[in-house]
Amino acid sequence: MTQTADLPRAVAAAVRDARRILVLTGAGMSAESGVPTFRDAQTGLWEAFDPSQLATPQAWRDDPPFVWAWYAWRIKLVRDVEPNAGHRALADLAALREVTVVTQNVDDLHERAGSEVAAHLHGALTELRCADCHTQYDDAPALPDEPVERLAPETCAACGGDVRPGVVWFGEMLPEEAVRTTEDAIEALAPGDVCLVVGTSGIVFPAAGYPAMALAKGATVIEVNPVETDISDMCHHVVRGTAANVLPELVGAVADDPG
Ligand SMILES: NC(=O)c1ccc[n+]([C@@H]2O[C@H](COP(=O)([O-])OP(=O)(O)OC[C@H]3O[C@@H](n4cnc5c(N)ncnc54)[C@H](O)[C@@H]3O)[C@@H](O)[C@H]2O)c1
Ligand SMILES: [Zn+2]
Repeated sequence: MTQTADLPRAVAAAVRDARRILVLTGAGMSAESGVPTFRDAQTGLWEAFDPSQLATPQAWRDDPPFVWAWYAWRIKLVRDVEPNAGHRALADLAALREVTVVTQNVDDLHERAGSEVAAHLHGALTELRCADCHTQYDDAPALPDEPVERLAPETCAACGGDVRPGVVWFGEMLPEEAVRTTEDAIEALAPGDVCLVVGTSGIVFPAAGYPAMALAKGATVIEVNPVETDISDMCHHVVRGTAANVLPELVGAVADDPG
């Protein structure tokens, strides 16, 4: 996607003047690293399958090797890509301001760019655990070189159960600690602070409700997304550009004038 960010001065000023910045990121954050979003057309083997049907406890119960093949491919895909300029800019911003990163992403690209992630609301791809007894699985799983339609999950050493990815599936509870950390970060916001919402469609709750909670605390809410979303209307500022274009420009503007 090539789109030049047109960064309004008011946006740079809001970030420059903020004491705290809460950054909420979604799948769009990693799109320019080559990790497709859920709404982007699924390609290849999984073209015909909707992720909202693959990423469910029911799908896993019905056919673990089918679901595991999809995740094994995603784990490999994420392992083979790099953080983009947007991830790196957010890591740089933490040297300038008090930054809290909360992500819906299950990849580790923020961490690999040097950010500390306060909460992975939807878990992490590589935090594997037994689907039956929940024992953590620390070995490296066997990953396919090419997408395959079915792949036997790894086996739990404790009970022989199937090992599943540590992601939150549709219909499952979010990790309590991640939610608490996020709510505390929102609670700490005050007028003049900023909530920066990057690359999320604002559809999946409860994450989709956090910008409104930040707004209620008096924070300035800024959206970075190439297209309109369900939260665009309530934002103080909307920057129609991509994460890798907008964020370096934004952080550059703050760094040039540290205030
Ligand atoms: N990388 C990942 O970890 C990953 C990837 C796909 C899906 N998911 C999961 O998908 C679920 C869906 O929610 P979601 O809101 O995160 O994703 P989503 O797929 O619903 O929405 C992605 C949003 O990103 C925007 N976008 C696309 N390219 C962008 C770019 N280059 N820069 C900025 N924005 C861009 C889109 O316009 C869209 O609004 C989440 O639960 C998440 O865990 C995660
Ligand atoms: Zn087990």
